[in-house]
Amino acid sequence: MKIDHTDFRNLFAAAALTLLPAAALAGDGVEIMHLSPDNTLVRVEKDARLVLLPVQESNPDARIDIIVDGKADRTINVRLATAKTDYTVPLDLSSYKGKDVVLDILTPQGRGSVGEAKDDICWTEMRTADEFNPADTETKYRPLFHHTPLYGWMNDPNGMFYKDGVWNLYYQYNPYGSKWQNMTWGHATSKDLIHWEQQPLAILPDGFGMIFSGSCALDPQNTAGFGSDAVVALYTSANRNQIQSMAHSNDGGMTFEKLPANPVITLDSEARDPNMFRNPETQEWNLVLAHALEHEMLFFTSPDLKTWTLASSFGKGLGAQDGVWECPDLFKLPVDGNRDNQKWVLLVNLNPGGPFGGSAAQYFIGDWDGHTFTADKDAKGNVPTKWLDYGKDNYATVTFSDAPDNRRTALGWMSNWQYAADVPTMQYRSANTLPRELKLFTGADGDILLASEPSPELLSLRGKTVAKCGKSSLSKKGKTFRLPTENSGVCEILAELDGSNGNPVELTLSNAAGNKVTMVYDPKEHTVSMDRTRSGVTDFSDNFPAVTLAPTFEKSGRLSLRIFVDRSSIELFADGGRAVMTNLVFPEQPYTTLTVSAPKGKAALKDLKIFSLK
Ligand code: FRU
Repeated sequence: MKIDHTDFRNLFAAAALTLLPAAALAGDGVEIMHLSPDNTLVRVEKDARLVLLPVQESNPDARIDIIVDGKADRTINVRLATAKTDYTVPLDLSSYKGKDVVLDILTPQGRGSVGEAKDDICWTEMRTADEFNPADTETKYRPLFHHTPLYGWMNDPNGMFYKDGVWNLYYQYNPYGSKWQNMTWGHATSKDLIHWEQQPLAILPDGFGMIFSGSCALDPQNTAGFGSDAVVALYTSANRNQIQSMAHSNDGGMTFEKLPANPVITLDSEARDPNMFRNPETQEWNLVLAHALEHEMLFFTSPDLKTWTLASSFGKGLGAQDGVWECPDLFKLPVDGNRDNQKWVLLVNLNPGGPFGGSAAQYFIGDWDGHTFTADKDAKGNVPTKWLDYGKDNYATVTFSDAPDNRRTALGWMSNWQYAADVPTMQYRSANTLPRELKLFTGADGDILLASEPSPELLSLRGKTVAKCGKSSLSKKGKTFRLPTENSGVCEILAELDGSNGNPVELTLSNAAGNKVTMVYDPKEHTVSMDRTRSGVTDFSDNFPAVTLAPTFEKSGRLSLRIFVDRSSIELFADGGRAVMTNLVFPEQPYTTLTVSAPKGKAALKDLKIFSLK
């Protein structure tokens, strides 16, 4: 999605600045006091707004205790540069106005033999600043129509809710580097799910630890006592162990106040990512919590969001069990659009153990009576394993609370824990998937399945029709279409494929550098696949090259595809999202051509359109 980086609030105003030469910066606004080979104090000039910290990604973390008027306020971990600076990150000190700030820095030495911290280049490049406006240095791969943070690491979208016309997206965020660390709730808002505005950090780590994933709910009945306009957040505090904490907001989710009596839930085993909702049938709050290492979900109930009672558990031995269970969501949806026939969906994200390795989202269909979840069984009496997305890059998918018009709008983290920290971007890492509407449909064998359709707002992105083709038969050589030349070739492709003769249809995106991504619809097997083994840069991880395969659930030998190509991702939706596949790609140059062919004999294209995206 397009991000308005200019509205990074007053903190990040417009002024071009990234890395400045070391000599020009030495000690500017900071006094450096080396105490021992691995300990340095940095006194920051009074009322400095920001300190810019130089980062070298390959380094281990240095621990920075922020001491304010002699008291330890908080700790952050930063890969301070020793030999070269990859980028700088801003540490915001504006809340300490009028106070004395000293950074007590423990560097990861053990360097006795190698050198002392005082020789590191971070001290000469560290400086204070009024503004931080990192010019976008990632124009090659930064998505043009997906949400990404301007800089820093992001994983799970979480705590998402809709209120007063605004979609609020929070996410697992490291503001101090592009690898996982310092988990904080970053925040972005949107009026249309397409254009996102960065907002100030929403919930920062505290004495209970980092702020892991969680959820938000509106509380118009004021059951928690924070006011009828309150947004209530529950999240996992992660330090030595994981506990569940609460915060609330009375300004629509911009700022949160933590509950002084935190934590609200403790267990004697690892549990995280609380997801709560108001159950109108029981007039109670319900909560799902991932009992991560037990491969199960725990269910709690509460009258007031503060006191929670364990009601039941679900999942032991069911579905995919290989990895830890994380990031649940539970909601009800009509089956085939019929409001009189509704089923409950339990989303269970799992890492690793996905169908193509690494992290992935599975789900269960069943019934929820306010206390117990009972999964539907298939014809053989088993609880089937079902996958939300058959690509490698859709994880931690959860939905927005309180979305309008009974919508179930979902976002996923468009990456995979196998290689998320190694992908070839550095200023930022990771994007979220396109927003998707979740719907239930009945599959061929009567099984109820979850479809993910691109959200209707995405239609507003469509620009010119750059290629068009009516009904035509396909040969081995195929038909070739040019992708748009503007905006790095980002586009939306609509294709109606006819494989009713039983022969596969192949769609290949390619460029002059020889990079290609091949998607094949196989009407005999009822599958669609995507091969990114030669998609461009793939060598940053052995787990990246992959061919992913999805069941298509169609009977007719015909398949309609809707494919969104951004600078570093491909999202394929077949038959209105009945089969979905999300895969990252890092082409050396943008793909320029689409070839549609019938490699094994007679097949046809019924219709094709390629749109540029605004
Ligand atoms: C899932 C996850 C969550 C946790 C968060 C930490 O990707 O492991 O279970 O809350 O990431 O960043």
